[in-house]
Amino acid sequence: MAEAREQWHSRAAFIMAAVGSAVGLGNVWRFPYVAYSSGGGAFLIPYFVALFTAGIPLLILEMGLGQRLQRGAPLAFGAIRKPLQWFGWWVAGLSAAIVIYYTTILAWSWTYLWHALTQAWGDQPETFFFETVLRRSEGPGEIGWPVGPLVIGMALTWLLIYLILRKGVRSVSKVVMVTVPLPMLLLAVLLVRGLTLPGAIDGIRYYLTPDFSMLTDWRIWLKAYGQIFFSLSLASGVMIGYGSYLGKKAEVTNSALITGLANCGTSFFAGFVVFSMLGYLANVQGVAVPDVTTSGSGLAFVTFPTAISQLPALNALFGVIFFVTLLTLGIDSAFALQEAFTTGFHDKWGVHPEKLARVFVLIAFPISLIFVTRGGYFWFDIVDKWICDFGLVISGLAQCLIVGFLYRVREFRDYLNEQSEVRLGNWWIWALRYVTPGVLSVILVANLLEEIKVGYGGYPRWATLIGGWGTVLLWGVLGFVLWRRPQNSDRVNARGED
Ligand code: PFF
Repeated sequence: MAEAREQWHSRAAFIMAAVGSAVGLGNVWRFPYVAYSSGGGAFLIPYFVALFTAGIPLLILEMGLGQRLQRGAPLAFGAIRKPLQWFGWWVAGLSAAIVIYYTTILAWSWTYLWHALTQAWGDQPETFFFETVLRRSEGPGEIGWPVGPLVIGMALTWLLIYLILRKGVRSVSKVVMVTVPLPMLLLAVLLVRGLTLPGAIDGIRYYLTPDFSMLTDWRIWLKAYGQIFFSLSLASGVMIGYGSYLGKKAEVTNSALITGLANCGTSFFAGFVVFSMLGYLANVQGVAVPDVTTSGSGLAFVTFPTAISQLPALNALFGVIFFVTLLTLGIDSAFALQEAFTTGFHDKWGVHPEKLARVFVLIAFPISLIFVTRGGYFWFDIVDKWICDFGLVISGLAQCLIVGFLYRVREFRDYLNEQSEVRLGNWWIWALRYVTPGVLSVILVANLLEEIKVGYGGYPRWATLIGGWGTVLLWGVLGFVLWRRPQNSDRVNARGED
């Protein structure tokens, strides 16, 4: 008999942790822009369709699989068919790759937290970001040395991750009680500040004015699915790992619903914060809102700092609030990713959580320094693109097909229904077998065609081959090695019986 598996303190702790992993930078710097540029208020229609036909069904699948099999992704898939353990390691490997580059954004945020005290970006925030903070070189071929202050930011981030994960899910249960509500509270503070500024209402109007004609464009629908997918941290093994720390009798379906709705609600809410500030900035600069609208790192590290400098008072305070928000949003997504990977080692070889946290951080920290070198920004961009547009899409597609067709999916549904107050009907099986794989296949083919025809970001092919395909495929090889190494803890079969 294996020793008793660690468990969440409570159902609330599990839901908090799942929400913490889902709610991240994507909610603040990606959703508002995607919504605005894809039909404003009308975008909520494809967005909620995607949430209910793919997001929540997959969330239930992942949490449910982890809970039923009491294992993270590698051994959970291995319990369905032995060779699928290889696939499970590949999925977990993606999460390791994500956390290694995701920490870069946290490293930037630490530096900005410091600069926010004096608004050191002055009136040239873009030059400040790329030249002063990142010291960006000419291209991916010119890597150079890691940049000092960013190394400190990176080190702080990894130290925090280590401290949080060293006691396993028990400490995570406590930490998420702070890292989940705090950024929400801070967003609310920023919202009040934003809404009381002149021009805010113009920003909100741009954000929400519905353009229903855009809904006839199929690409908008794909965008909605892509956004849901990334935002709910699906296909990376995170939710399987977190689900595996639920008790054998725990309920899953309702928790998944709550997680999905809380995440999307936060995105919608963050849109008001971002667009009220953008409205104000446009007002100060005497331009239209679209001229100041950005997403991604440009929004967080260029546009928002500009708006902060323009505030009538307490600029340093609001600057600090904004970057603390980014840090607390990101940190729980980061440690969830690391946990998704390391849990496989605990399951298979019984490695202690402290040792796992220590060894992973000691290996990952030096690797992550690549992303804070002078050429690091380009590599960050390439790895991010390939993981999100190819790695996660392929993983999600395979996961649906594996569970939809190779696992006794009806029996699985009945199992979930027995433990939950919310009952799943046939629609769930339909979503897993046909709707989600269908949409993901279209996304994958569209992304592949685009990559073959135009490449990405003007980077040379060798760079995208190494950074993009290299990262995605490397885990195929490492996953194979991990799969073949003999196991020394108890096995579990596909019905979750030890
Ligand atoms: N869901 C996170 C966000 O919206 O920022 C990002 C993320 C975390 C994506 C974990 C994927 C993942 F596996």
